[in-house]
Amino acid sequence: MPPKTIALITSSTRSPRLNPFITNYIYDLLTPVLPEDVSLHVLDVAAQDLPLYNEPAIPSLLPETDPTSCYRHEHTRAWSSKVREHDAFIFVTPQYNWSVPASLKNALDYLFHEWKGKPAGIVSYGGRGGGKAAGHLRDILQGLRMRPASTAAALVTTRTLLDDCLEQGRVSEVQIVAWREAGVEDAVRRMFEEILASL
Ligand SMILES: Cc1cc2nc3c(=O)[nH]c(=O)nc-3n(C[C@H](O)[C@H](O)[C@H](O)COP(=O)(O)O)c2cc1C
Repeated sequence: MPPKTIALITSSTRSPRLNPFITNYIYDLLTPVLPEDVSLHVLDVAAQDLPLYNEPAIPSLLPETDPTSCYRHEHTRAWSSKVREHDAFIFVTPQYNWSVPASLKNALDYLFHEWKGKPAGIVSYGGRGGGKAAGHLRDILQGLRMRPASTAAALVTTRTLLDDCLEQGRVSEVQIVAWREAGVEDAVRRMFEEILASL
């Protein structure tokens, strides 16, 4: 198999936020099980500075072979190029009002062919694990003709977790053990195996 790259998408954009800490936790979890020919990168939606969707085109109607050059705005061309560099995606998302944050929906809406056909995983988090967000995201990914893994990971979070992470610079070991005992790590690894198998 030629070398493959997988992106972990950090989906929320407020500051401060929990998302980068959870993304780093997932990154650390997957790094030891990465095959030699697969690399894992973090792609942060907040760093893309995407305005609310402002392209004149409907992305699914652009030419499949080179949609990037068809966009009017530089922010879209930059986002398109970055997404095209990756073969699969793991979306790490909080739940906002029973769905995904608008920042993630917006970033997904900007493109179509860049996502199409690629394997995807979902890691959600929230007071009850963010299952509603994960369900909505699965539908959106199917609309984009992606191939979502059947296993998703849902991380139950507490109201104090963000403050704890900001204080310690990472997710605490106590929290990691709690997630491990709740089956989070098994779910993440199973999801990752599904993604690798469909690459
Ligand atoms: C606008 C907004 C809506 C939220 N809605 C939900 C919700 O529906 N269910 C839930 O469990 N948590 C909800 N939360 C709590 C978030 O899951 C929690 O604050 C999490 O840390 C947000 O991720 P972030 O820090 O990366 O933005 C909401 C938070 C925000 C800011």
